[in-house]
Amino acid sequence: MERILVTGGAGFIGSAVVRHLVGKGVRVVNVDKLTYAGNLDSLLSVAEAPNYRFCQADIGDVPRILSLMAEEQVDAVMNLAAESHVDRSIDGPGVFVETNVVGTFRLLNAALAYWRGLDPKRQERFRFHQISTDEVYGDLPYDDGIFTEETPYAPSSPYSASKAAADHFARAWHETYGLPVVLSNCSNNYGPFHFPEKLVPLTIINAIEGKALPVYGRGENVRDWLHVEDHARALELVVTRGAVGESYNVGGRAERTNLQVVEAICDLLDERRPLPGGERRRSLITFVADRPGHDRRYAIDPTKIERDLGWKARESFESGLAKTVDWFLDNEQWWRPIREQRYAGDRLGSL
Ligand code: NAD
Ligand code: TYD
Repeated sequence: MERILVTGGAGFIGSAVVRHLVGKGVRVVNVDKLTYAGNLDSLLSVAEAPNYRFCQADIGDVPRILSLMAEEQVDAVMNLAAESHVDRSIDGPGVFVETNVVGTFRLLNAALAYWRGLDPKRQERFRFHQISTDEVYGDLPYDDGIFTEETPYAPSSPYSASKAAADHFARAWHETYGLPVVLSNCSNNYGPFHFPEKLVPLTIINAIEGKALPVYGRGENVRDWLHVEDHARALELVVTRGAVGESYNVGGRAERTNLQVVEAICDLLDERRPLPGGERRRSLITFVADRPGHDRRYAIDPTKIERDLGWKARESFESGLAKTVDWFLDNEQWWRPIREQRYAGDRLGSL
């Protein structure tokens, strides 16, 4: 793969993918609408690279996307553009349907039109990679079960329902029209450049500042955590070597309760930057009202991608979290402007 169109490349995972691919010499065309979650400051390290191009556009703008694909003669599309925050999807599901479902449908149509115009050799090489989440599999009990590629989709939230719908469309475009689609479903990511509305960065920043650390319910819900750079490497393998029509589960075999995650962050920060007066940050933990429809547990079985594509997570949760805490301590210039922004009538206003 020499030329890849990445959508959502100014977001958390997309920017890690862009930095990774540009670093490996791939020509990357980054298409991002720059919603509240998109941030070009996450791409400063590649902004001037000759093999990188940014284009501010909506994935649903078919003429624009089609002309970009033709102009750049791309070999693949990696679709990471999405509305990604479950709590926002509960407050306002409409935009999740617009971007995640209708946007993906339109992007698939643009890709199909472009793909049909390629010569047979390039048609065979082309890939549409739909980047998805383990949340589409829905709720697991605390003490049993793991998500494999055969687990039926059973989404619980407007976010996961919109991602599930998009995945179904991607599969249908393969089955019906022959578009060479690959999919991947990943567990919760954490790492640098993570937007501070999600659990890990919100907790790190609030804890740096000595503010309350909100934990939903009793903090018993379990997520399976993966460092974002391990995910970026997995995505490169799936798009370049994944079997057409198949999906790959990606996860770090690192299940933790939310309370364990928050406590680990507290302890790392107490060690690195003690609070004045020596107060322990665990005392900042504040149990708040639970999220409606809160899935109890997610757990990914990554055997297929490990076996078939030779991928393996490099970071343990402990090593990855320590690096992430250090990154937020060292990169206040990245997160401070986001925190100081005020979005009228919007969740961030109350952070
Ligand atoms: P993010 O919210 O940080 O970034 C999303 C990016 O998409 C932003 O840059 C935003 O500007 C852009 N975008 C939104 N709507 C757009 C549109 N209509 N057209 C073009 N660009 C648009 O999200 P993320 O956490 O980086 O997640 C990226 C993808 O990975 C999503 O598809 C998400 O469902 C999936 N995923 C996320 C996780 C996770 O833990 N964050 C885990 C598994 C899968
Ligand atoms: P989040 O980072 O929003 O990711 P997702 O909902 O996609 O898994 O939340 C991770 C877990 O942390 C989830 O179980 C909800 C919980 N959570 C809190 O307890 N407190 C918070 O402030 C946030 C944002 C999330």
